[in-house]
Amino acid sequence: MFHYHQPVMVAEVIQYLITDPNGVYVDATVGGGGHAKAILEKTSPQAVLVGIDRDREAIEIAGQVLAEFGTRVKLVQGSFSRIAEILIQENFGTINGILFDLGVSSRQLDISERGFSFSQDGPLDMRMDRTQKMDACQVVNSFSERELADIFFYYGEERKSRKIARAIVLARQQKPITTTGELEKIIWNCNPGRRGGIHPATRVFMALRIYVNQELDELSKSLESVVQCMKEGARLVILSYHSLEDRIVKNFFRNHDQLEVINRKPIIPSQQEIQSNPRARSAKMRVAQKLIREEGTPV
Ligand SMILES: C[S@@+](CC[C@H](N)C(=O)[O-])C[C@H]1O[C@@H](n2cnc3c(N)ncnc32)[C@H](O)[C@@H]1O
Repeated sequence: MFHYHQPVMVAEVIQYLITDPNGVYVDATVGGGGHAKAILEKTSPQAVLVGIDRDREAIEIAGQVLAEFGTRVKLVQGSFSRIAEILIQENFGTINGILFDLGVSSRQLDISERGFSFSQDGPLDMRMDRTQKMDACQVVNSFSERELADIFFYYGEERKSRKIARAIVLARQQKPITTTGELEKIIWNCNPGRRGGIHPATRVFMALRIYVNQELDELSKSLESVVQCMKEGARLVILSYHSLEDRIVKNFFRNHDQLEVINRKPIIPSQQEIQSNPRARSAKMRVAQKLIREEGTPV
């Protein structure tokens, strides 16, 4: 099978996530099924895995990768902000552990027609769920200069956000910007040359992707409902790749009265892993456990 995605920190995820070998586990971002397969291999034949992804292609591929586990696997296409609803609909009660491996998969980045990347030309799309209405083309061609600058600055921490937004607005007056290549060229002309090996379009593309998929809202919305779906002692493991995501997770864990933080400092990949999988380099893993109430403690 072609290479879909190399999962990050698999051994660490397994070590922290699995507390009951017979439990029910959720992979909220199942992608190509790499982490899910490891979870199923490390648990007993009684354990069950619910895999969620909003990308239909990911669900299809995960279905093939996990086929050998038969009825131990239930795959659902949907947003993880609907997790509570999905678990009820699939007749699952509370769960023993849940994993979020945030962001995009290598496959989504590598396929030019998905429009996530500027390394190959493709339509300006960036939707994880291709049934969603808003795509990157709509944002780039219809948002005001101010709105674009704010997106690039807030989600991408792009220092030239205003200059790039201005150049986009001028370019689209001539003709709509419809491909990743056209957008890449506009950004490059504002800010030519690589800095520290980083292409000048990197931050803008990341910011647009986060905005189009409402990634931070999805995360914030899902966290509270996830805690309510967890059994006492269940683990919540989150791998994030962006400082804003990590901040949301850190603050949520710290301030939640039903969670105990397992690792004060985020766990990061080894140098060896980063060398063999450069996309792992920005990963940060945080783990929390749902508190176990002592007998007689009020709910
Ligand atoms: C980094 S990849 C996960 C890779 C996976 N752990 C593996 O081993 O192959 C992230 C996945 O999360 C999905 N995703 C991102 N945000 C989502 C959301 N709000 N709801 C459901 N899936 C989401 C993406 O479509 C993508 O397939």
